[in-house]
Amino acid sequence: MQKTNSGMQKTHLELTQVGISFPTEKGPFVALQNVNLHIKKGEFVSLIGHSGCGKSTVLNIVAGLHQATTGGVILNHKEVTEPGPERAVVFQNHSLLPWLTVYQNVELAVKQQSDGKKTKAEIRDWVEHNLELVHMSHALDKRPNEISGGMKQRVGIARALAMQPEVLLMDEPFGALDALTRAHLQDSLMEIQAQLNTTVMMITHDVDEAVLLSDRIVMMTNGPAATIGEILTVDLPRPRHRLQLADDPSYNHYRHQVLSFLYEKQRKVEDLGSKREKKQQNKTQASA
Ligand SMILES: Nc1ncnc2c1ncn2[C@@H]1O[C@H](COP(=O)(O)OP(=O)(O)OP(=O)(O)O)[C@@H](O)[C@H]1O
Ligand SMILES: [Mg+2]
Repeated sequence: MQKTNSGMQKTHLELTQVGISFPTEKGPFVALQNVNLHIKKGEFVSLIGHSGCGKSTVLNIVAGLHQATTGGVILNHKEVTEPGPERAVVFQNHSLLPWLTVYQNVELAVKQQSDGKKTKAEIRDWVEHNLELVHMSHALDKRPNEISGGMKQRVGIARALAMQPEVLLMDEPFGALDALTRAHLQDSLMEIQAQLNTTVMMITHDVDEAVLLSDRIVMMTNGPAATIGEILTVDLPRPRHRLQLADDPSYNHYRHQVLSFLYEKQRKVEDLGSKREKKQQNKTQASA
């Protein structure tokens, strides 16, 4: 089914003048400043930007895990002050409970979310269905320390999807996965999101992933005091198919826009500078 704009007109999630300053030994560190973003119901928004610019911090503020120092976040006309079951988070580093099995980790989230409304059999079916989506049915009884990093990440994704949240917050969810599994999960995510009209905010470092999945790509400036540099609207029809898009000129145009933002407009000058310095040092040492 093709997503129409009428399905996502109301602002669902609103970030207004969001800023945050962390106390550090050297004094307050302003990580974010003046972040303004209105996200509509059912919209898929990606955040992209260089390492350390503040992407996870934005996500954690929306999740209610950090409090903004200035401004704030409104979800469904209510201010976000703490975490809530309508916002599921897939963390950058999986956050499974180590004493529970794969099955139990997902079951716990489903039980909390269903609030006693699902029968035992319904819970079991739903947990199994979501673990099947991420190809983890073979490891239901394993504990997190018995499975690989990519597998843990997949269980984290299953747990978030199983909660059927209104807002799905994902911090580099597919970063640790092999290319095939990643493609499979990206496709499943697009399908699930279209079916449930979930609002998604996803952090990624992968330009292709951002263009394939997003309605808008939010590109962040480098920190400190990072903010939104540009927002790119990806106007490609849905459903989207990676193979068809590979040769699509608009797809490649969007890719180019993001690459140019990252590697021309927001080039990490300090990093290049320090690399040059290192090279110079090595040369001097070699000739000494
Ligand atoms: N609790 C904290 N105390 C002090 N500084 C922090 C804290 N959390 C984050 N920061 C700083 O805020 C900045 C943004 O961090 P953040 O984790 O949001 O970056 P990121 O864009 O997610 O990076 P990456 O792509 O590497 O995950 C960094 O400079 C980081 O060192
Ligand atoms: Mg991060």
